Amino acid sequence: MNSALPGHPLNPRLGLLKPYPFERLRQLNQNVRPNAEFPAISLGIGEPKHAAPALVEQALMASFKSLSAYPATAGEPALRGAISAWLQRRYGLALDPATQVLPVNGSREALFALAQTVVDTNRPGATVVCPNPFYQIYEGAALLAGAQAVFANSDPGRNFAINWSQIDEDTWARTQLLYVCSPGNPTGAVMPLEEWKTLFALSDRHGFVIASDECYSEIYFREEAPLSGLEAAAQLGRADFRNLIAFTSLSKRSNVPGLRSGFVAGDARLIKQFLLYRTYHGSAMNPMVQAASIAAWNDEAHVIANRDLYRGKFAQVTPLLAEVLDVRLPDAGFYLWAAVPETVCGGDDIAFAQALLAQYNVQVLPGSLLAREAHGMNPGAGRIRMALVAEPAECIEAAQRIHSFIRNSS
Ligand SMILES: Cc1ncc(COP(=O)(O)O)c(C=O)c1O
Repeated sequence: MNSALPGHPLNPRLGLLKPYPFERLRQLNQNVRPNAEFPAISLGIGEPKHAAPALVEQALMASFKSLSAYPATAGEPALRGAISAWLQRRYGLALDPATQVLPVNGSREALFALAQTVVDTNRPGATVVCPNPFYQIYEGAALLAGAQAVFANSDPGRNFAINWSQIDEDTWARTQLLYVCSPGNPTGAVMPLEEWKTLFALSDRHGFVIASDECYSEIYFREEAPLSGLEAAAQLGRADFRNLIAFTSLSKRSNVPGLRSGFVAGDARLIKQFLLYRTYHGSAMNPMVQAASIAAWNDEAHVIANRDLYRGKFAQVTPLLAEVLDVRLPDAGFYLWAAVPETVCGGDDIAFAQALLAQYNVQVLPGSLLAREAHGMNPGAGRIRMALVAEPAECIEAAQRIHSFIRNSS
């Protein structure tokens, strides 16, 4: 059969991809008419909305002249140096800028590309393990690399920690790549050192790579900043970060999701192969973006101010919602991950989101769209994700409407 015939997918693996949660939400909302008496508020999409720092915009503008040469995929030494210096300040770790860090065009493309670098389909049963609920790129990356995606569910009884023991030894033996997300999206849970210890032991036993998605690491609510996989490795005597690669992004830290800038850091052997892959893929970072990124990594004042803004918002909104929903302040991130009361829409997250939109014009994301059915359940079912990214007044207004909705529906 000629796969290039009209109507035939060119790459059959593309047919395995699932619609993105927001696409499914759009379809689900087709017959919902939002109450026009209220201005629309969306807590659905997790896109930062605080202002981008002026120093990043200025550095971007000041580097116009840098467009006349091809950038290197490895990035400018000055950028790699700024990233290493940030890792030193933030985690007290000395990573070699030449071999252990690499700039990437946002963590999303890098999380995807890593699977293409790591997965070996010549080995039978190639498997990628993902948390559940999860950031959908992990699954797409696994499927397009020719691997099977297997899920481990989050446990609400243990601060939403992932129940890694749901993965049996045979599956771990086939696993080539494990995605972890800490702080987690949507739960905000930070993985403690003990959990890292378990995962490193499994990685040593079975030889798989751990991709640690840490893009929410700078937005946190506890005294202590979230533990990085790199820090955990160093604390456990794994100075070479073997089989570990961490993903960090400027999108949330510096409110520049449009800049497309982040980095990976960790095992020099992985970084070398990743650089080789990226050279062919054509993933060099625009020189203006590199200049802006240097300015962003070198400045912490705007990050502290940004964190304070989130802390203020969460301090106001969380207690209000906790009166009507099973919800509490997460460790980190910018989401509230709440259980829908049984008394409203029978506890169904999709029905809840639709009724809230219809009656109060507030959009929340039904949790079941962020997770897959695994081990006999969908761990996102009966939950909603609320992204507190808008201005404080808008988030408080949304919380008040949700409060009224639940009180009036119960
Ligand atoms: C868990 C998680 N990882 C990665 C990303 C990608 O972020 P970026 O590509 O902007 O760095 C997101 C964005 O929403 C996310 O929620």
